[in-house]
Amino acid sequence: MIRVLFVCLGNICRSPMAEAVFEYKVKNEGLSEFVQADSAGTGPWHVGKPPHTGTLQILKARGIPWKHKARMMREADLNSFDYIVPMDEENLKEIQALPQGSAVLTKLMAYAPHLGVADVPDPYYTGRFNEVYLLVEEATRGLLESIKQKHNL
Ligand code: 4NP
Repeated sequence: MIRVLFVCLGNICRSPMAEAVFEYKVKNEGLSEFVQADSAGTGPWHVGKPPHTGTLQILKARGIPWKHKARMMREADLNSFDYIVPMDEENLKEIQALPQGSAVLTKLMAYAPHLGVADVPDPYYTGRFNEVYLLVEEATRGLLESIKQKHNL
């Protein structure tokens, strides 16, 4: 099983959206038995909570299923996942401060280089969940294509 962990700050807005959108693509391509996703936050504030209503509205409007409760990222994730995918530079730095494991660590927007966007902006502060969705949609497509190629799926 190829395991992918999306990481943001609170694990209620961006990374649970990326997890659900990516899992939906995996399922639609018939790859659920090969690829699996999860998400986590670098901060503790919302542990145990469902995604933010802004994220849930985006998913509901598109019929994308979700099942996630916020959790914090842990050191062991750097070995138990194959790909760790932070949303922004701050998340990346937090993860780089941990002892590195076997996981490939790459920011999400690196999988959509044609967009010229480095980071997924935090909608917790901007309220712009649709902007986040457009970025997540495009970059998770690129991520899945990259995984399919590397692992001959
Ligand atoms: P997220 O957004 O990292 O995309 O889940 C945030 C959610 C909560 C907080 C910050 C960002 N917070 O400070 O509580």
